Amino acid sequence: MALKIISVVGARPNFMKIAPLIKAIEKYNSSNDGNYIQHVLCHTGQHYDQQMSDVFFEHLNLPKPDYYLGVGSGSHAYQTANIMIEFEKVLLKENPDLVIVVGDVNSTIACSLTAIKLGIKVAHIEAGLRSFDRTMPEEINRILTDAISDFLFVTEKSGINNLLKEGISEDKIFFVGNLMIDSLLYSLPLSDKSRILTRYNLKPKEYSVLTLHRPSNVDDYEQLKRIVAFINYISEKKKVLFPIHPRTSKNLTRFNLTEQLNGNVIFIEPLGYQDFIKLVKESLFVITDSGGIQEETTYLGIPCITLRNSTERPVTVEIGTNYLVGNDLSLTYSIVLDILNGKSKKGKIPELWDGKASERIVNILCDKFNIIS
Ligand code: UD1
Repeated sequence: MALKIISVVGARPNFMKIAPLIKAIEKYNSSNDGNYIQHVLCHTGQHYDQQMSDVFFEHLNLPKPDYYLGVGSGSHAYQTANIMIEFEKVLLKENPDLVIVVGDVNSTIACSLTAIKLGIKVAHIEAGLRSFDRTMPEEINRILTDAISDFLFVTEKSGINNLLKEGISEDKIFFVGNLMIDSLLYSLPLSDKSRILTRYNLKPKEYSVLTLHRPSNVDDYEQLKRIVAFINYISEKKKVLFPIHPRTSKNLTRFNLTEQLNGNVIFIEPLGYQDFIKLVKESLFVITDSGGIQEETTYLGIPCITLRNSTERPVTVEIGTNYLVGNDLSLTYSIVLDILNGKSKKGKIPELWDGKASERIVNILCDKFNIIS
């Protein structure tokens, strides 16, 4: 019997999670000499730009999606509802055994909810992460997706405890490691060919990298102004390379804050995956409010200053290279000074972040669906 799976991607951080899974499925099929798993890829179109979406298909060697829902931007209700309407049509046509969703974006909750109501099983990859901050749209998406999923694949042990505390049965939870790290390991050798350092005239360890896109940081004028002051301070110590997210770019312009960033902050467009990895790997430190970048820097051993009050990825702070600073300017100053003086956290790589998470997931699913090879 073949297992028919539909995987969903929607926004930028999803692409690097599904790419290794597709490779593991292909490997499973070819090493077992047959098409045991039939895979269908659905892109909701939540992110649609060349730089936010297309470039990742190319860099991660992702197949062209079988379905493109073209939902685009809009309010949370608009985006979620439209994805549900369009995805339901795909499910009715394809009738899969399983839907796989990743992460915490609106596409994740929209597609899991649609599937489960049609009686189709759902696997959630990157389950159990909790910031305990319900003002974050991602936290709501995570809690709801986990509550209705049948298979919960967890990247770090905190996720297991969070799920158990929410009453999720232990036999649905699988600690498998981190698919982001599978993608990172696949792309690291390729990223060495990137010309990004030459393009911006950079020398290793002589610059920092900034990414910013959380609504709580960039949608509010006072908060964004505070962050601009923050970044100006840091840029006096080290040049700051700033690949700018469309949300942030729009808001800096809307609030007339772009001119207030000093000349040592270099704006660049959102980067493709390999260029971004190369930029981070050779940087002295990273400043971010992203989730995934906290994990990538921990793996690469690069200090990461996270401009948030909480993280759903505590292992990156506990044993990795991540510092949570919230709005604490003086704490940030002292961390930057430590880094400049070579006294930053050294960090370790978390358990099972070894590039094999995708294979573990495929093996577990084949076992659970009784796919005999
Ligand atoms: C979304 C996810 C967030 C994830 C982030 C990564 C949710 C709730 N949020 O946030 O968890 O970390 O993606 O980037 O799902 N835009 C473009 N081009 C694009 C995509 C978006 O210009 O290809 C613009 C939109 O017009 C919108 C803004 O960027 O104004 C924000 O996009 P949206 O998808 O709403 O949320 P993100 O902030 O990207």
